[in-house]
Amino acid sequence: MCGILGYTGDRQASDILLNGLAKLEYRGYDSAGVAVLNNGEIKIAKNKGRLKVLEEKIKSGQEVPGTCGIGHTRWATHGEPSDVNAHPLWSDDMSVVAVHNGIVENYREIKNELAEHGYKFYSQTDTEAAVKLIDFYYKQEKNPLKAIIKAIHKIEGSYCFVLLFKDFPGEVWGARKDLPLIAGQGKGESFLASDVSAILQDTRQVYYLDNMEIVQLKKGVVRFFDTEGYAKHKELSEVTWDMNAAEKGGFEHFMMKEIHEQARAVKDTFGSVYHSGKINLEDLGLADENIKDVSQIYIIACGSAYHAGAVAQYVIEDLAKIPVRIELASEFRYRNMPLDKNALAIIISQSGETADTLAAMRRAKDNGIKTLAIVNVVGSTIAREADSVFYTMAGPEIAVATTKAYSAQLIACYALAIQFAKVRGVIDDAEVARLITEIQALPEKIDEILDEKEVLEELAYKFVNARNAFYLGRNIDYAVAMEGSLKMKEISYLHSEAIAAGEMKHGPISLIEKGMLVAGIMTQKNLYQKIASNMLEARSRGGFLLIIATRGCEALKDEANFIFNIPETDEHFAASLAVIPLQLLGYYVAVARKLDVDKPRNLAKSVTVE
Ligand code: G6P
Repeated sequence: MCGILGYTGDRQASDILLNGLAKLEYRGYDSAGVAVLNNGEIKIAKNKGRLKVLEEKIKSGQEVPGTCGIGHTRWATHGEPSDVNAHPLWSDDMSVVAVHNGIVENYREIKNELAEHGYKFYSQTDTEAAVKLIDFYYKQEKNPLKAIIKAIHKIEGSYCFVLLFKDFPGEVWGARKDLPLIAGQGKGESFLASDVSAILQDTRQVYYLDNMEIVQLKKGVVRFFDTEGYAKHKELSEVTWDMNAAEKGGFEHFMMKEIHEQARAVKDTFGSVYHSGKINLEDLGLADENIKDVSQIYIIACGSAYHAGAVAQYVIEDLAKIPVRIELASEFRYRNMPLDKNALAIIISQSGETADTLAAMRRAKDNGIKTLAIVNVVGSTIAREADSVFYTMAGPEIAVATTKAYSAQLIACYALAIQFAKVRGVIDDAEVARLITEIQALPEKIDEILDEKEVLEELAYKFVNARNAFYLGRNIDYAVAMEGSLKMKEISYLHSEAIAAGEMKHGPISLIEKGMLVAGIMTQKNLYQKIASNMLEARSRGGFLLIIATRGCEALKDEANFIFNIPETDEHFAASLAVIPLQLLGYYVAVARKLDVDKPRNLAKSVTVE
């Protein structure tokens, strides 16, 4: 996820770009850059670091004069944050210069093909492959529209490009697939941006681009084309949001916005290791022979990342038949357990900076154990020190309570589980294909659940004054219960506990009072009746039974107070769906209690102290 911008008009482009990028920094902030087209020349300035570094470098824009330009604020996906990998990126003769948001999944293949035509590459980015592909077609067609169309027919993945062509002064071009891009219409000027917050101070008249649409900006003129090259008419909309709402994409809180970004995070994370019909983990240091050598797995993490690991433990053990231990980093780092040198340590962390997780990873490394980090922030300490990294593609997460990063961590673990199972001969190719199809169907199912969120909003008001809640599950459903319970307590301050359902009778049951929320997660068919019995024990003591169950589960249909059904999926992946209503419930209870959802008291997004 990155912030991108384009401008053409009569004002200095750099002023507009620097102001607009400042509004987009929440989308990424590890590097920034601008390109300005002036007198037939494109001048580029870019660097690693926050936008203010760029601002100083170009003397608030004086170094890049001109009235037509593009800008970018980066959240690294391919290639670490560095001056070279920062956007814009250019073709060798500077004919085409572009900024990009998203992932070009087939960039290796594109690079190889272009290399045969003499193209060389200077960065580690996927973007450079796309820019040079557009340049390749541009050299044949001498027409920006035709070149972009040819390129987007070839590029796989989700993306949004904003481009300058040296020979087309005063013009900015853009195209999108699966990622947002809006065009703004001003008087004698026009804009492109990742979201309206970046241009709201200049215009409220916007067009929302649809998937696979191409846009051309000239001073005060915005034109649209389909992928056949035909011009399209679009309706202009008036933005009524204020600036604060605009940054949150119209949602009241970043947390809700991020909950809605989960389908994309899931798709992009899987897409990063799934190429040409296969999961490929070689770039993660997991070639087939390495996978075969692994004797057992330690998963080490804190907080929600630990909960993702808890799901992974069940999934990997069941699919790949390898013993997996899930360890709290804060415990692992001080425990004197005998460590197996042939084990693989999987370190999970959104920030890549959590002090306990980092210390635990160092301990594993000191003991000669190979480490694989599943991390969201590119270039973070854990990412740099691990033997290899599987980057989740969630993009920057602003809300303290994680949602999309957790969902992306689950997908990374599923991909590992399938590949381990395949390489170790536990499942055949047909089963691999079936599981992959199930993963690919998850984004749509997540959105299907989000379409029904209002019923949970209504339910939440019931618990505005509640003091305690239990979340019950067994197996994967217990791991989901842990995450659901954490979501509730961290943002709504309602005390809640996750309980392995079979354990309730050993103590917690004494806490159940009339009307207390007892949530039961039911996605594992063989355990439906077991959980149902535990839930009935809670009901007979006055508990309010909320059931999150896979569609078709009939257990408790007459006894539950409220049932929320989730779509069917392979049971190994059910956590990805069951967690969504639990995130929503925590969110809505916090909103009903009028709490600061994005910044809950006493918590921090990244915990760099012990
Ligand atoms: C903090 C955050 C949690 C997160 C945990 C681990 O407590 O509030 O949301 O799960 O740290 O963070 P990490 O960055 O290592 O995933």
